[in-house]
Amino acid sequence: MMSVAGTYYNSAEMVERFRDKSVSQFFRSETALLERIAWSEVNSCLDVGCAAGRFLGLLRHYGFAGTYTGIDLAPSNIANGRAAYPEAAFILGDALTITPDRRSSLVNATGIIQNELRYLALLDWMCAASDRYVMFDLKVANIPTTLNDPDKAYCAWEGHRIPVLCLSEADFAALLGDLAKKGHVHYLRYPTPFNAETTVPDWLSSWESVGVLLDMNGPAGISHIEIDAAGSKG
Ligand SMILES: C[S@@+](CC[C@H](N)C(=O)[O-])C[C@H]1O[C@@H](n2cnc3c(N)ncnc32)[C@H](O)[C@@H]1O
Repeated sequence: MMSVAGTYYNSAEMVERFRDKSVSQFFRSETALLERIAWSEVNSCLDVGCAAGRFLGLLRHYGFAGTYTGIDLAPSNIANGRAAYPEAAFILGDALTITPDRRSSLVNATGIIQNELRYLALLDWMCAASDRYVMFDLKVANIPTTLNDPDKAYCAWEGHRIPVLCLSEADFAALLGDLAKKGHVHYLRYPTPFNAETTVPDWLSSWESVGVLLDMNGPAGISHIEIDAAGSKG
């Protein structure tokens, strides 16, 4: 049986949203991180929550000619990915239940962690699956404790709900500190509105989107990237 998240993301309109995502729909906040990657040293990408695999189209703009594997919970997304990129590999399932057969140069998860309460396990999984770069985004707010209560914070779509996760500043700082022990962390952040599907408690009045790129070959440390917020996204 499909998981709740799989059902949520497999609905026709959600699938369509990601099927035709063009390179120009990726935002400055994503490309600013990709510009920190040494592309000549990247020959494989594992994309967690790949939807229809459009991230591969973006990678090709950076000259990426390596192998791409996408993992997604939603069968229609996997079918669309296979149709669009027959040369790539697509795996249907929950990433945390899959054991990659080898490590990839870049392991990406865009638009996943803000709805993934098992985020620490997923980030460990991503680091174990990578031999160089790990890239992801999440939400952070100036709140006393991390918001991870699915009764209070969720996205609702056609009667299905998935949880919303928003890290406190303290948990976010701790996460960056832990990642920086593995290599160099580049990150950027910018305010972003709540989207129409998102319900959060009244006391959470604003939050920020944060993009993170860990380079496990880089020197331990953390760099903040300034970006033009106008080019970012929610
Ligand atoms: C918001 S969409 C983002 C799609 C794409 N990464 C992008 O940024 O355009 C989230 C996707 O992640 C998938 N997903 C969420 N949690 C997942 C998990 N644990 N394992 C595999 N796929 C997952 C969903 O099915 C959905 O297609």
